[in-house]
Amino acid sequence: MPLADKNISSKIKHYLRFDDLTADEYAYIFKRSVQLKNKFKAYQTWHPLHDRTLAMIFEKNSTRTRLSFEAGIHQLGGHGVYLNTQDTQLGRGEPVEDAAQVISRMVDIIMIRTFGQDIIERFARNSRVPVINGLTNEFHPCQVLADIFTYYETFRSIKGKAVAWIGDANNMAYTWIQAAKLLNFKINFSSPPQYKLDEELLPDNVGDHLEIFSNPLEACKDVDIITTDVWTSMGFESENHERQKAFSGFMVSDEMLNVANKDVIFMHCLPAHRGEEVAASVIDGDRSIVWEEAENRLHVQKALMEYLLCGEIEE
Ligand code: CP
Ligand code: NVA
Repeated sequence: MPLADKNISSKIKHYLRFDDLTADEYAYIFKRSVQLKNKFKAYQTWHPLHDRTLAMIFEKNSTRTRLSFEAGIHQLGGHGVYLNTQDTQLGRGEPVEDAAQVISRMVDIIMIRTFGQDIIERFARNSRVPVINGLTNEFHPCQVLADIFTYYETFRSIKGKAVAWIGDANNMAYTWIQAAKLLNFKINFSSPPQYKLDEELLPDNVGDHLEIFSNPLEACKDVDIITTDVWTSMGFESENHERQKAFSGFMVSDEMLNVANKDVIFMHCLPAHRGEEVAASVIDGDRSIVWEEAENRLHVQKALMEYLLCGEIEE
């Protein structure tokens, strides 16, 4: 164990993967997100994190994650500090463990967007304050939290529902699968054969919560949500050309929505590429819920930060 790993409390609650919270904790966070969203819409001041500081560390680009965390901590009465690794000593090789020790002595909560999941886990092991995953190569829990909350707002529980994932076996896909096992729903997964899921990243005993389809149209039959994401995630840009070829035929189309349940909704974490992973008529159509989904990043992450620092609040 590196020296820095010593003396860090194992009681600190981090949010590094979707299954870091229990189903009961999600039930609380969804309920709380509604309350915080209502306060926001009513311009009601709510400052449970007065004088608290959030450090936001980015190793990859972002629009939604940065803005929702920065606005969110401000609305909760705290302050956000943006750190881009290229401008910090992390970009010059300072060990992650040392950075975690130092940063977590100066702030109250930390959000990181980075490459390997191992990096954020090493950081969290050496942090004195909660660490939130703002996207890694393997997982994007804050986004799936917002997505499931977006479903919950209209339809309530996602339990027993079916979600079609059409496209790459990426961070969003693995997080949806983790969520399916934890919250008891099903993923119909369809990707080109050369981009199939890595068994190592699947939850143990995923069982009936995951079904693989070679034909994306079949994956969409009778589902409640259809979702997709970019074919080339950040960090994989050198593969873009071959991915464009491999994924043709995996664009979410109106035909796919038409074989789903009648009240199916389309989700995309954004940014989107019309004419690649999704047809313009789908993302801009009336079954698309992508703008609500993006807005909800703000509300769920406020509930998450409040929960990690203050626990449950009864109102
Ligand atoms: N969906 C999402 O995480 O968007 P950004 O990359 O803009 O943060
Ligand atoms: N899978 C995408 C998500 C972007 C929000 C990526 O990692 O680039």
